Amino acid sequence: MHVIQAPLSMDSVAGGWVDCVFLIALKGISMAQSRKYSLTLFGATGFTGGLCADYLGQHLPKGTSWALAGRNPAKLEAVRARLQAAGVASLPGLIEADVDDQASLNAMAEQSKVVITTVGPYVFYGEGVVRACADHGTHYCDLTGEPEFVCNTLTRYHDSAKKTGAAIVSCCGFDSIPHDAGALFTVRALAKKLGGQINGQVTMEGVVTASGTFSGGTWQSAVTAFGRPTENRYAMKHAQMALNHQYPKSARILPMRPKKDAELGGWLAPMPTIDPFMVVRSARAVDGYGPDFRYGHFIAAKSLPMMLGGMVGIGGLVLAAQIKPIRNKLLEYRQSGDGPPKEKRDRSWFKVLFRAKSGGEQVMCEVAGGDPGYDETAKMLAETAMCLALDSSQPKRAGVLTPVMACEDRLIERLQAAGMTFREI
Ligand SMILES: NC(=O)c1ccc[n+]([C@@H]2O[C@H](COP(=O)([O-])OP(=O)(O)OC[C@H]3O[C@@H](n4cnc5c(N)ncnc54)[C@H](OP(=O)(O)O)[C@@H]3O)[C@@H](O)[C@H]2O)c1
Repeated sequence: MHVIQAPLSMDSVAGGWVDCVFLIALKGISMAQSRKYSLTLFGATGFTGGLCADYLGQHLPKGTSWALAGRNPAKLEAVRARLQAAGVASLPGLIEADVDDQASLNAMAEQSKVVITTVGPYVFYGEGVVRACADHGTHYCDLTGEPEFVCNTLTRYHDSAKKTGAAIVSCCGFDSIPHDAGALFTVRALAKKLGGQINGQVTMEGVVTASGTFSGGTWQSAVTAFGRPTENRYAMKHAQMALNHQYPKSARILPMRPKKDAELGGWLAPMPTIDPFMVVRSARAVDGYGPDFRYGHFIAAKSLPMMLGGMVGIGGLVLAAQIKPIRNKLLEYRQSGDGPPKEKRDRSWFKVLFRAKSGGEQVMCEVAGGDPGYDETAKMLAETAMCLALDSSQPKRAGVLTPVMACEDRLIERLQAAGMTFREI
């Protein structure tokens, strides 16, 4: 039987969760334990899905029942044959499922304790999988970084997922785990310095440096998201209203302005990705961030011209994506299924530096790893899913969650054991 800590957390108190919700969640989670598969990977035939299948094959405890899911049985067979050739001990079952066939998604969710999905762009292909999991009390992990999808998932499925006991966890890759889990690691270090507890305002900044390239699927998702600014704004506004209601605790994003800060790596450009939204959501819901938490998210450049060049480049791409014929041309530039080769990924790396201040004290922490977009992303996704499927104290709560809201410190322990760096500097 799982030990559920959700009803004792700040999340439940602030959100007004009541015992009956807890009991329903408990029922949902124990029901999920009797499923045919502990884990199902939907999208196993894609680039990132393939890396995730390899990681699971190598790291799932022997005897774990798991499955690969997708729309093309021949491609699924080929992935399983690759795993078999690599000597994987517990070979997966296969499930045919298509995002255009809701019954197939429901059947996939019904027989799985956790569904991982790498089928994107999520704004087009993701909602049916979330619905199936929320309805069937199935835990869910994805790789989206698309604000519209994340926000709509929160406003549309939080209540139904809470009722069935499902943990619906978005952004389990480079978007947003290093930032979400890194902020938790940093407030833990800050609390230690402050004698065990944070009582005042916390100001934290996270600064990303990275080297790597992207896959066709990431390109398709990014250009699609850039081309939907109105939909993004609308979804964000409604999600913010829902959050203010669910978690009245004060946590907010710092104003986004470029600046120079030698301690944090030079010139810093604001990074208005989904990451700060996820960090602040965790800070509202999880104990330990103090009563008033503020977070700023940046990317570092070595010089002012480099920073300005980067901002103009991204701004130009966002502008170009507003014009449909140009957007369609951009979408043709990288095709679904492509991705960086192993030699390129082996040379890729990332580092996120955090600085947090409160009560006259300051700490600096670092999260670092290898190829951010694919090898480490596959690892982070698989470790989050294994945390939900296999660890006895997980998930910490039900509903639509951030990775930290779902797994808290256990996620950091797992990622450290898997070779990622989390350290105070
Ligand atoms: N946030 C991050 O850090 C991060 C990192 C990496 C990737 N991602 C995201 O992950 C997603 C996948 O990226 P990728 O490069 O792996 O993409 P990909 O190689 O194009 O893979 C897409 C997968 O979706 C499947 N699919 C497409 N339409 C489907 C349908 N109708 N029914 C069932 N399956 C369908 C494809 O199946 P077939 O093989 O049958 O075509 C394939 O398995 C993207 O949204 C990307 O942005 C995020």
